Amino acid sequence: MALLGGSLGYNILKAYAGNGTKVGLSEATSYAGKSKLEILLGKDFLTDVKGSVVIDFGCGNGEQAVEMAKHGAAKVIGVDIVDRYLEMGRQTAKNQGVSDICEFVRNPSEKADYIIALDSFEHFENPESILETMHSMLKPCGAVIASFGPTWFHPYGGHLFSVFPWAHLVFTESVLIRWRSGFKSDGATKFNEVEGGLNQMTIRRFKKIVERSGFFIEELEPVPIKKLKWLANPLTQEFTTSIVRCKLLPR
Ligand SMILES: C[S@@+](CC[C@H](N)C(=O)[O-])C[C@H]1O[C@@H](n2cnc3c(N)ncnc32)[C@H](O)[C@@H]1O
Repeated sequence: MALLGGSLGYNILKAYAGNGTKVGLSEATSYAGKSKLEILLGKDFLTDVKGSVVIDFGCGNGEQAVEMAKHGAAKVIGVDIVDRYLEMGRQTAKNQGVSDICEFVRNPSEKADYIIALDSFEHFENPESILETMHSMLKPCGAVIASFGPTWFHPYGGHLFSVFPWAHLVFTESVLIRWRSGFKSDGATKFNEVEGGLNQMTIRRFKKIVERSGFFIEELEPVPIKKLKWLANPLTQEFTTSIVRCKLLPR
């Protein structure tokens, strides 16, 4: 339950955070020059997908899809709901000489050995239906490999709205949305409507959603925030987890 709402909350937030740039919010990535796939999914991942058909669900600009293609995947299909990302993926694949084994589409027509989803499960508007879709896109012996976060109770789990640690829990949704509308023009009225989506995913909710899906959790690792590692345990994990890594298998 957020504490600060109404005009008081809005004015405090506006004074503190200005239009976002005041508190240094940026889209900059911490993966520049590194392999996000290897950092999030482990060093062996690129070897594991050699010769496989892989769907990158929520592929963004296609960087990871192209990387998998360059490392020997038989075929990579980048899936996203934003057409300009799909086009960026096609361009990158072409520039990197792997356009013959890469496809960027909203709805793939081929089933995959692996579906990966990086930094996406906390954004999907309807994660339940995404799991259903994934189930229909996966070969029976295939696996979903996902890494997502920060989850909602992480100090920066509100993404853009976390202008300071846990700010997204301190201010009400309407105050945060009103503040955001001062510098973003997509007309979002709820967290879920912001461009790219923000579904307030928690570890507990994710587990429940999977339980009700056609998948089961083969592995799930809540990776602790480095500085809070000493505090991380099953009771505190919603607040101390940096990202969640998991492997889901079809039932
Ligand atoms: C934070 S980005 C992550 C992009 C990429 N996986 C990466 O790690 O760089 C989340 C992506 O999920 C996509 N997305 C959101 N909802 C989606 C949906 N229902 N179906 C497919 N993609 C979706 C967004 O458009 C966005 O590109």
